Amino acid sequence: MNIGKLKSFLQDKDYAAFIVSEENRRYFTAFPSSDGFLIVTAEKAVFLTDSRYIEAAQQQCVDCDEVLLFKSIKESIVPVVEELGIKKLAVESGRITLRQLAMYSSGINVEFETDNSLENAIESIRLIKSRAEIDLVIKAQRIAEKAFEHILGFIKVGMTEREIGLELDYFMLRNGADALSFETIAVSGEKTSMPHGVPGMRKIQNGDFITMDYGAVVDGYHSDMTRTIAVGNVSREQKEVYDTVLKAQTEAFAVMRPGIPCADVDKAARDVITQAGYGDYFGHGLGHGVGIEIHEEPRLSPFGKKVLESGILVTNEPGIYLPGKFGVRIEDMAFITDDGYENLTVCPKELIII
Ligand code: GLY
Ligand code: MN
Ligand code: MN
Repeated sequence: MNIGKLKSFLQDKDYAAFIVSEENRRYFTAFPSSDGFLIVTAEKAVFLTDSRYIEAAQQQCVDCDEVLLFKSIKESIVPVVEELGIKKLAVESGRITLRQLAMYSSGINVEFETDNSLENAIESIRLIKSRAEIDLVIKAQRIAEKAFEHILGFIKVGMTEREIGLELDYFMLRNGADALSFETIAVSGEKTSMPHGVPGMRKIQNGDFITMDYGAVVDGYHSDMTRTIAVGNVSREQKEVYDTVLKAQTEAFAVMRPGIPCADVDKAARDVITQAGYGDYFGHGLGHGVGIEIHEEPRLSPFGKKVLESGILVTNEPGIYLPGKFGVRIEDMAFITDDGYENLTVCPKELIII
């Protein structure tokens, strides 16, 4: 189905698509592999991969008219290009290296289109998720939510951040995750002021915030969630910051619907944080698209140029980070529907104190 959209795009182009990136190959064929080529014209899609993957590829690739063994550019790609009568190949401008381009150009006797047109077209196709894609994200998210429930009973004073992070990872992988969405963030105490802090040997103490940002992958689709919880007790300042972040997230949800510019969604959250006096402590954008990659279009930030449409999946993840003290982030995923959004994250958000 996804290749069908690309074939339609190629209908009035003077080039065929030459797709080499792992993420786009997987997106279009549903087949994971570290190496391969997908050549698509308005009529035909041909996937080539080497001997490590060929048997599995022939069984699993979807929407491909042919799945062929790759031996070398000369022996495998050139004959396909000739047979399909291709005169020009467009590459993914944002995803291939100059070295790859030089290698392909010297080996295949056609013109190469290196502008952003193919990259932009693929980005637009990937932007709008099908129900099947969303169902995979939801499956991944349910695993992450189960892990959250589990971790609440697991965390004890004296335990290290690393133990918490590893437990989340192990639980997700034991419960159906194919992989982790990214390196799990589990930070505590003053380290919660680092949005992407790395779990270390710091031991959990009473009065800590713990921020956990993590996700599972199912059939190539990523989930992404963050929860900040407290241990033992919280100060008035901690509570105020937590409530401000939660309110910021709520206000951003309130404006999410087709037609609203991404920058305005960011602003809805940022205004809450700025009015509470913490504007200097929310450095990152409000959110990002999620799908076959953990970070994809669109970007919800003051500079986000896109407008929300039905079928887009984004995170909503405001945060306040007070250096040397503590930080809070809360992150859910929102699927934009015809008349609003569906929150894919089913997990409590009132401040949990364990
Ligand atoms: N830690 C990745 C993200 O939430 O965007
Ligand atoms: Mn996250
Ligand atoms: Mn995120």
